[in-house]
Amino acid sequence: MSRPAAAPSERPARAPATEPQPRAPMATGGEPPRPRSPAPASGQPAAARSTEGPPRADAREWSAARKLDYLREKNLGNCQRCALARTRSNIVFGVGNPDAEIMFVGEAPGQQEDRQGIPFVGRAGERLNLWLDMLGIPRDHAYIANVLKCRPPNNRDPEPEEVARCSPFLRAQIRAIRPKVLVALGRFAGCLLTGVAERPLYQMRGRVWSYQEEKLDARIPVVVTYHPSYVLRQGRDSPPGKSDADAQVLTDLRQVVGILRGA
Ligand code: URA
Repeated sequence: MSRPAAAPSERPARAPATEPQPRAPMATGGEPPRPRSPAPASGQPAAARSTEGPPRADAREWSAARKLDYLREKNLGNCQRCALARTRSNIVFGVGNPDAEIMFVGEAPGQQEDRQGIPFVGRAGERLNLWLDMLGIPRDHAYIANVLKCRPPNNRDPEPEEVARCSPFLRAQIRAIRPKVLVALGRFAGCLLTGVAERPLYQMRGRVWSYQEEKLDARIPVVVTYHPSYVLRQGRDSPPGKSDADAQVLTDLRQVVGILRGA
């Protein structure tokens, strides 16, 4: 956890008023968004348009913060790629240190997150904060995002189609940040980051997986653990942080700290 703290990359919850952006081609799980020129203003000559966006080679040299900003504002924009756009209040892009060594990935925003546009600010977020405190990991040393950027109605499970459309943005966040370790919170993040098809969470815990994809020239270790909401449900009769499920998560997170220390 020795990387320098950088300005948080949290974006305004709502996209700029100049949106909406055009619908992007369907991202069928394989086509991550890339930095590209902003949508041309109508009537603008082609030559002028071509100077608006940075050349792609240049973008590779950008800081993680700048890549995340571009991804949020220009690629994701006022996303209308799936039906969740109609029921969300805010897009919940991600929060934290763009130069983080540790990146947490949850499932999807809940009610509080949808209201505030920030991941893990409700009860699940309080439990995550507690775990981080217990392990001495400052929240601003981490980056936190979700598989889905918009809240599914009534917190239902993400649909495969929604994951297929939204996960390229998570993959692009991971490429921008290049954390030393990824922590998947819950089954949906676990399956996505490990690349395994449907598998119960308890079968994904207890080992270090490897995240890889064609556009990333590195493998990133992945630890899968329980989602804080699950732990809250399991530990209703225990003091905060003291249930069996909490203990299992803390075991998993100690493994994460070991990876960060090079163990
Ligand atoms: N649950 C999640 O998976 N993500 C959040 O941001 C909040 C609750």
